[in-house]
Amino acid sequence: MSATPLEALPLHELRERSSTKWRRYPDDVLPLFVAEMDFALAPGITRRLQRAVELGDTGYTPPQPGVREAFVAYAQRRSGWSVDPSHVFWTADVMMGVVEILRRIVDPGDRVVIMPPVYPPFVDTIEEAGAVVERVPLARTEDGWEIDLAGIEAALADGARAVLLCNPHNPTGTVHSRESLAALADIAAAHGAIVVSDEIHAPLTYEPGAFTPFTTASQTAADVGYIVTSASKSYNLAGLKCAVMVAGSDERATLLRDLPDEVEWRTGIFGAMANVEAYAPESDAWLESLLARLDLNRRLLADLLDEHVPGAVYRIPDAGYLAWVDLTALGWGDNPAVRILREAKVALHFGPHFGAEGNGHVRINFACAPEVLREAVERIGALARS
Ligand SMILES: Cc1ncc(COP(=O)(O)O)c(C=O)c1O
Repeated sequence: MSATPLEALPLHELRERSSTKWRRYPDDVLPLFVAEMDFALAPGITRRLQRAVELGDTGYTPPQPGVREAFVAYAQRRSGWSVDPSHVFWTADVMMGVVEILRRIVDPGDRVVIMPPVYPPFVDTIEEAGAVVERVPLARTEDGWEIDLAGIEAALADGARAVLLCNPHNPTGTVHSRESLAALADIAAAHGAIVVSDEIHAPLTYEPGAFTPFTTASQTAADVGYIVTSASKSYNLAGLKCAVMVAGSDERATLLRDLPDEVEWRTGIFGAMANVEAYAPESDAWLESLLARLDLNRRLLADLLDEHVPGAVYRIPDAGYLAWVDLTALGWGDNPAVRILREAKVALHFGPHFGAEGNGHVRINFACAPEVLREAVERIGALARS
């Protein structure tokens, strides 16, 4: 039986929130930009955090906050992935985990491959690790995008040291196939490179799609790979600060074990509590309801764009709540979100921030009420007709 779609909070309550999504722009703007969701938290998370607040349980994160055990059980239950607990570590957020791993596998000036269009902080994060970004854009296929294996092979053969993978991919919503991940691992191994896989959107993979954690794609992938993930995106916990780092093998785990204590110490206590509750079986029903809502919205967006914004090109994502929409045909320039913000009062993410491949594009966050999505697209449609 399919789950009942989750209902979003009403707009007047959302406007009481103090997060970036609701404070960045004035109230006449509909915010569909940053990746925050408009739903109440999973009940188990709310209860745990409420009790912690009542107790003033706001101190330092304990040495064993339960994140490791909760994640291992979750991976087994939800995807049949057997994670060796000794390979699991935690830190404050996904990008911090990525930067700390990269710092230890690159020397200053080494090149790290990204696949634009991609989550913009990948660039800063690589630079923060002292490395240099090498762009190997995702390849277009007839029906979407895929890893440009030949391009990555050339970059690694030419000396690039690591690949920062986004799986599922933000902003295209691509879930990479096991075969392409295994092939990427083979290429990395052949050139002595490491793959760091950001899997923050993985819990939001829609059926019948199958998500493959990178390190499970093959033995070679386990040998060359790290995964960094969190419940923060799929359970809306970004402000609480907790992420999980997983090594593919005993050898890889040494790097994580040897990280300075501070890397773990920066984990927020609310983040740890919330991740433990998110990964608990009691939160599965909430996730199913969320997925039911997001599944409806990703399809609704296709219908709305067809009706109101002819010329918009949108491929329904296979994971996540971010839609990558090509508005080139509207003739609104490289960064159409600027005009949409100014004149339609809808805040979308700027396509060019994801790389030059994002020129003419916008990213739309559809983790909201269907009425909000409809209103946003109608406003854009009205602008297109004006
Ligand atoms: C691919 C990807 N990685 C990382 C993040 C941010 O995660 P964190 O706040 O845990 O660093 C996001 C946020 O949207 C994301 O889309």
